[in-house]
Amino acid sequence: MNIDVFTLFPRWFDWFVEQRHVRNAAEGGLEFRAIDLRESTPLRAGQVDDTPYGGGAGMVIRVDVVEAALRDRYGMDPVELLSRRRVIALSAGGRAFDEALAGELAAEDELTLLCGRYEGFDERVHEQLATDVVSIGPYVLSGGELAAMVVCDAAIRKLPGALGHAESAVEESFSAALEGAPEYPHYTRPLEWRGHRVPEVLLSGNHAEIDAWRRSRSAERRSPRGP
Ligand code: ADE
Repeated sequence: MNIDVFTLFPRWFDWFVEQRHVRNAAEGGLEFRAIDLRESTPLRAGQVDDTPYGGGAGMVIRVDVVEAALRDRYGMDPVELLSRRRVIALSAGGRAFDEALAGELAAEDELTLLCGRYEGFDERVHEQLATDVVSIGPYVLSGGELAAMVVCDAAIRKLPGALGHAESAVEESFSAALEGAPEYPHYTRPLEWRGHRVPEVLLSGNHAEIDAWRRSRSAERRSPRGP
């Protein structure tokens, strides 16, 4: 898999690529690049943004800057690129990211993520230069970088060899094995902690019962737990 992230802060990803599961995936063939939008800007003095038409606070990342960055990297018209490559713009107003989308993205050979800053991208980036606009939640971050890391993390951990134990991604929250439900609770030693004991069924050695208990606890968790 090849992932390119376009950003004004490529150094943010130095930490990300050092993490164990990302390094494991890299050994298995993952290529991850963070590309500075300023490096290919056609504007003077590294300019990438501009004031919004219609007035208002903040700056907007220009569509011609994103176009130039994509053209520079892929050597083709970025509008045509969309038929070959999934290009995801991160934006608070986008489609909600979830486990199903993480699975879809993990199955792609090539992925591009566009990180906005300031007031975000000129709307034509979303409409003409991206296949998807994705949000990691209904809150506003200071830029798309953390959102891109969330999306990449959820997709990369699904790649073969990324996690230490091959099984650990199979029966986990939202997986098909659990019919899309959150994962069941886990316990380990000590058996009793401040009067709270591990459920007896887990000590029974009866795997059919343990399995049934886990599935029912997982199904109960479908409705979100609040305070
Ligand atoms: N950029 C700013 N906020 C964001 C969010 N919630 N998701 C994705 N990208 C963003």
